[in-house]
Amino acid sequence: MDLKVEFETHFGIAHTRWATHGVPNAVNSHPQRSDKDNEFVVIHNGIITNYKDLRKFLESKGYEFESETDTETIAKLIKYVFDNRETEDITFSTLVERVIQQLEGAFALVFKSIHYPGEAVATRRGSPLLIGVRSKYKLSTEQIPVLYPTCNIENVKNICKTRMKRLDSSTCLHAVGDKAVEFFFASDASAIIEHTNRVIFLEDDDIAAVADGKLSIHRVKRSATDDPSRAIQTLQMELQQIMKGNFSAFMQKEIFEQPESVFNTMRGRVNFETNTVLLGGLKDHLKEIRRCRRLIVIGCGTSYHAAVATRQVLEELTELPVMVELASDFLDRNTPVFRDDVCFFISQSGETADTLLALRYCKDRGALTVGITNTVGSSISRETDCGVHINAGPEIGVASTKAYTSQFISLVMFGLMMSEDRISLQNRRQEIIRGLRSLPELIKEVLSLDEKIHDLALELYTQRSLLVMGRGYNYATCLEGALKIKEITYMHSEGILAGELKHGPLALVDKQMPVIMVIMKDPCFAKCQNALQQVTARQGRPIILCSKDDTESSKFAYKTIELPHTVDCLQGILSVIPLQLLSFHLAVLRGYDVDFPRNLAKSVTVE
Ligand code: F6R
Repeated sequence: MDLKVEFETHFGIAHTRWATHGVPNAVNSHPQRSDKDNEFVVIHNGIITNYKDLRKFLESKGYEFESETDTETIAKLIKYVFDNRETEDITFSTLVERVIQQLEGAFALVFKSIHYPGEAVATRRGSPLLIGVRSKYKLSTEQIPVLYPTCNIENVKNICKTRMKRLDSSTCLHAVGDKAVEFFFASDASAIIEHTNRVIFLEDDDIAAVADGKLSIHRVKRSATDDPSRAIQTLQMELQQIMKGNFSAFMQKEIFEQPESVFNTMRGRVNFETNTVLLGGLKDHLKEIRRCRRLIVIGCGTSYHAAVATRQVLEELTELPVMVELASDFLDRNTPVFRDDVCFFISQSGETADTLLALRYCKDRGALTVGITNTVGSSISRETDCGVHINAGPEIGVASTKAYTSQFISLVMFGLMMSEDRISLQNRRQEIIRGLRSLPELIKEVLSLDEKIHDLALELYTQRSLLVMGRGYNYATCLEGALKIKEITYMHSEGILAGELKHGPLALVDKQMPVIMVIMKDPCFAKCQNALQQVTARQGRPIILCSKDDTESSKFAYKTIELPHTVDCLQGILSVIPLQLLSFHLAVLRGYDVDFPRNLAKSVTVE
């Protein structure tokens, strides 16, 4: 998009947005504009849920849209309000105020306009937004009244004494001299901390305007409970700490983000009212996929486990044969691939060399290729024919956690989309969609077991080995749990298919060896009980992850971790979380760097 915004000003706005509406390309990227003259431009973090209605309305008024984004409706809407203003001297803030009254959903917005040179207006509802304040002078709290002479100075002076400057909503903040103060708008402190550690956190419906170097904040509505001021807070944390929030490691933060990350994976895709799923990145290829001979799902490590976890539900919903493959092994075998195969490539980073090579191998053989990645613009997302962004947000800890649960959900959503027309599957689909809806709450419930899991880690952290056993829908949970334990605690750990117990692994079981068993109320429950008997008969002391209402398993358990129940094919999302937490606590207790385990890299770009 040719976006020459020729303002006589030192303001600039930009935003890197996860592609939620439309593919990532120049036209869909931000800022979005009201028209070819860029009368109004806007950047937006969040999602506007009523954008279709707004777009229809604006189109009926003659506005032509150029992008597929929800954001463009905001740019057009503000121009509409401006073009239909009742007085000439309407302020920029008032326009924004009127626009946000029409918006539904979540947003943090920053606007600029050629009609208001040198001004920027920002606002939020539901999505975070803060303002960084930087002065070229090193400010101490005592100096502030000098640097903000036009504020309600007595008010500011008094508040400064308490080490906090508060701005009454009727005052504004500015500085002496040109560029003495710079303002930064950002969603997160980590984006601006290298420039300033002094920030004002905006609240929902605040409208912050910077005009002629002055900042003022006002609100659309005032209620009796509103705090009439906003504090400038001095962040004491380093960049890394800010990004970690209240957590001691990125991995821990990412584990605890899962109620939101799984929600974000489903957002705008699963319609819980109509029981339908629409994956925008696949819709144009759906016919072709439905006609295919088989699905091949390929990945490495955790991403491969997401394929194992969903294989059964994919077979059930698509009624197609589903092969799951480790990328390296798939290539080593020169696996036959045909033109009528559909090959999925699961990768958090989108850069894993083995997965990328497998993708090129399948492309060369004429198969349709689908990427399931967490990284917009990555090699795998670029080179596949179509795909799904899992929208889990950046994952920094080397041990993958939230990407796994979001990959899991993306594959389930694919199965649901494929089975929309199958009358015989309607009840099952509804059951799964209901399960998806309640997942964020159930994940919170699982996360509340953290302390109990920490206590378990205290008992286990000196062990050399840990076995993790299960079957059916939860076999993948065992593989994934064991991988987490291996990679960050450096303990030996094995995920064992309980059905294979008597074919070898049972020899490992004695009263010393800790055995974690995943036993859920699903079709494999009775078979898992057999495995449990075999373990207890060898004096093993099983630690059982089981359903809350499972009195049978707990009778034989040395310890139980009781989990909320969900539909069988989604249970693996809940059962993996205690193992993520356990590996985290074990690693901390053993004194290791959880986020950067030895010998491993986040993105494995070599074969
Ligand atoms: C384990 C882990 C790795 C990755 C694997 C594939 O916690 O993170 O096993 O899953 O290296 O990486 P991606 O998903 O980026 O292709």
